[in-house]
Amino acid sequence: MVNDVLVKPLDGAASWPGSDTLATISARPGGAAANQAAWMAHLGVDVVFAGRAGARDVAYHRRELARAGVRARLAADREAETGSIVIMVAPDGERTMFTDRGANLRLRRADVPARLLRGATVLHLTGYTFCEPALLEVALWLLGEARARGLAVTVDPGSAAFLARMEPAAFLRWTEGAAVCFPNRDEAAALTGDTRPLAMAAHLTRYYGAVVVKLGGAGCVLAVPGEAPVLIAAPPVRAIDSTGAGDAFCGAFMSRWLAAVPPAPGGRPGIPGGRPVAPDLADLAAAAEYATRVAATVVTRFGARPV
Ligand SMILES: Nc1ncnc2c1ncn2[C@@H]1O[C@H](COP(=O)(O)OP(=O)(O)OP(=O)(O)O)[C@@H](O)[C@H]1O
Ligand SMILES: [Mg+2]
Repeated sequence: MVNDVLVKPLDGAASWPGSDTLATISARPGGAAANQAAWMAHLGVDVVFAGRAGARDVAYHRRELARAGVRARLAADREAETGSIVIMVAPDGERTMFTDRGANLRLRRADVPARLLRGATVLHLTGYTFCEPALLEVALWLLGEARARGLAVTVDPGSAAFLARMEPAAFLRWTEGAAVCFPNRDEAAALTGDTRPLAMAAHLTRYYGAVVVKLGGAGCVLAVPGEAPVLIAAPPVRAIDSTGAGDAFCGAFMSRWLAAVPPAPGGRPGIPGGRPVAPDLADLAAAAEYATRVAATVVTRFGARPV
């Protein structure tokens, strides 16, 4: 769970080191997985979010997630504050982020009990849960529980800076076999050592059932094993604040992707015999195209959550 503080200097405001720079500043609920959960629920998916927040913020975050329709299971931390991120937004919508992970670093197994997976179709994790030893232990345990139950897994690597600090090859090994991986351009580069979008996406299909490389204003590249990757353009929009565009993209993609996973006869959707059924490339392309449209709406306004 994260408290976002968005800082956007007023148009034309002079920067005064050591004094005041006029800005619009707003505090918002954030966190990549929480934002994505909010978008998924907003778009009609039944979603449970599990995480950890400072005790004094738990009611606020639970309420904000419930507003979007998310069932939130938040552990209250009495010692650590909620994670927080100060996001400085440049006039072109690009951002610089200062990140204090706070209570997120103290996530433990009991915060994400395996019974939450009961009846679920998919487990989604972000890369943030892989980049500290204590968190990694929780992530790997959850992945094992999901696989044992035949759930599909999806991953958003989440942070090129954190990927570079761990071992990118290790991240691939831990998450190999996931149904969908959603890196952005920098994360895909960190994972592949390449920088060409089509080549990065194709490379990552060695590890995942589908790969969607998010390319900011350029849209995304979709790739599945054995087929030529496809570039899907984003609608051209005037960028105001791209915070959470990637999270909205993943949420929107998954809402369509889950609908395209055919129901199993007499079983949970898409899991006949415990093996997730992969939607075909046309379904995936339709999901990605939809995701670029939803993400574009997020870029044209302040904030990461559905309104
Ligand atoms: N300037 C833009 N114009 C149109 N669409 C955009 C723009 N920026 C982002 N998007 C859309 O949002 C998607 C995700 O953006 P991006 O590639 O920045 O992912 P990300 O880095 O994971 O985002 P986040 O910062 O939320 O983690 C893109 O694939 C694109 O569809
Ligand atoms: Mg992202």
